[in-house]
Amino acid sequence: MQRATESAYAKINLGLQIAGRRDDGYHDLVTVFQMVGPADEVTVNPSQPGLHTRSTGPFRIRDDDRHLCARAARVYCAATGIQPAFDIFCRKYIPVGAGLGGGSSDAAATLRALEKMHRAGVDLEKLGARIGSDVAFFIQGGTALGTARGEHLLHAPTVHATPVVLVKPKAGINTHGAYALLTPEDYSDGTRTLELFARLSAGDDPLDLTDLMGNDFQAPIERTYPELTDVRVSIERAGAARAMLSGSGSCVFGLFAETTAAERCARELSEAGYWTYSTRMLHCGPSGTR
Ligand code: C5P
Repeated sequence: MQRATESAYAKINLGLQIAGRRDDGYHDLVTVFQMVGPADEVTVNPSQPGLHTRSTGPFRIRDDDRHLCARAARVYCAATGIQPAFDIFCRKYIPVGAGLGGGSSDAAATLRALEKMHRAGVDLEKLGARIGSDVAFFIQGGTALGTARGEHLLHAPTVHATPVVLVKPKAGINTHGAYALLTPEDYSDGTRTLELFARLSAGDDPLDLTDLMGNDFQAPIERTYPELTDVRVSIERAGAARAMLSGSGSCVFGLFAETTAAERCARELSEAGYWTYSTRMLHCGPSGTR
């Protein structure tokens, strides 16, 4: 059996409206996911029976049972009847606690790698949804509408390549804690995000749709972490057409008309002490390349 390596890209949310809290403790939402760089790298190696994970790279995390790569492998093995016998290496380039979906993307990359090795013919999006709300999106990536917990997906047929800058302050934000900050006043229906997705799918330029973008976490998170307002305003001053929180933060992203302006913004905020990354909206190519 050959080893398999998969890139695990990050995401931003171009729109994120939270409709309310459900009986199971999760929240119903309407969101537009957009794949961006950077990417972690997940390699699954066949091994002696058992399951071991090891992470390296600038944002390495603790290697324990809660590692989402390990959870993904356990879910895959349970669904297919395959005996766990894997070493999983995860090189982490996506910051943690950023709202960029790094852990969820690592889980999706693990599922893709295992399916490449075993060809069991299982529905990876369905398996992904059992691991975390965002995992299903990362199976295919690109641009997608997410509803329910975020796991019901509609993929956009269009390809946009708008320049994006990611800026993350030192503080990370725990997703569960961010949801706990929400009050009913923060909730909204998903109308604007549904229209955003329809217009993106029709091929409209994302830079013409900035009025439809928004994130219901923005106000409560900026109230709790005032530094994020400064970051957002700095990105706007650097010329972004729109600057917003990604997911529940703490990463703030800016959309730019020109790559040169995006790179200048990334440089300036990096010199101010923030982690920054200049990328663009990314999509799956026919051979799985982005
Ligand atoms: O699904 P996932 O494990 O990524 O979610 C992490 C936490 O975020 C959940 O425990 C839950 O508190 C919160 N969450 C939520 N509603 C969602 C997604 C996540 O309340 N749609």
